[in-house]
Amino acid sequence: MNEVADLKERMKDFWALGNYPEVAKRFVPAAEKLVAACDIGVGDRVLDVAAGDGNVAVAAAQTGARVTASDFTPRLLAAGRERTEALGLEVRWEEADAEALPYPDGMFDAVTSAFGLMFAPRPEVATAEAFRVTAPGGVVGLTAWTPDGFTGQITALMGEYLPVPMGTDRPIDWGIETTVRKRLEPHASALEVTRDRIVWEFDSVPATLAWQERNFGALIAARHSLPSKEYTSLLTRIAELIRQWNHATDGSVRLPAAYLLAIGRHDR
Ligand SMILES: C[S@@+](CC[C@H](N)C(=O)[O-])C[C@H]1O[C@@H](n2cnc3c(N)ncnc32)[C@H](O)[C@@H]1O
Repeated sequence: MNEVADLKERMKDFWALGNYPEVAKRFVPAAEKLVAACDIGVGDRVLDVAAGDGNVAVAAAQTGARVTASDFTPRLLAAGRERTEALGLEVRWEEADAEALPYPDGMFDAVTSAFGLMFAPRPEVATAEAFRVTAPGGVVGLTAWTPDGFTGQITALMGEYLPVPMGTDRPIDWGIETTVRKRLEPHASALEVTRDRIVWEFDSVPATLAWQERNFGALIAARHSLPSKEYTSLLTRIAELIRQWNHATDGSVRLPAAYLLAIGRHDR
């Protein structure tokens, strides 16, 4: 197995840890904004890449679009399938690597990825694949955590401790406008980049940490692999990060999850 394929196998194990669907509940507003920004509606053929348990797939299918949701982590595909079935939504769930999509050229009107493509190890390969399967006139829409928000900062911090890289060395480069433009412009005739934020609320700093230790696959992977002293120092750094970004002044926690939303139109 070559190095990239080996890395992806290890990444799948990592994404399957913890309780991702619980984490993803907090990302729903971004998925809804992405679907609206891509102007997805009745009958549109939509591919959601690195779909997780289906935040975008659900929002897109609820508009009446024909949705395929793909991800490379079987456990999340199963969770997503169960979720859309329970909601009575018709979504095709398919195992696929964002860097080698198993679809013909131009098959979809919209290709989306919420906080997903940003974790593919080779950004230029994943970007080219997203545009390849998009029909002329269609759109590619992405969201990514920006470096100037809590979620971006914790993604970067986890990268220092994880036994497996989270895709590229710096996934949050996808949240820097100049970088995203450089990556998408070769494929897109028109490009719109905007910024938004979600606010994550918790009762207290210890409650925030406990929630992360329960649900975050990255933190669970770190706990499994680090000597206990290093894991404790990681928890201390996360607590510092929470305090640094906390907007609340009443003992509770309000964290900005700032993200960038990029839409590229594919008209060649
Ligand atoms: C932060 S989650 C985002 C999931 C979902 N889009 C959402 O908004 O909740 C990242 C997802 O990317 C998937 N992923 C990472 N690298 C991938 C790759 N190379 N191909 C396909 N999926 C990938 C993981 O399995 C995980 O579901």
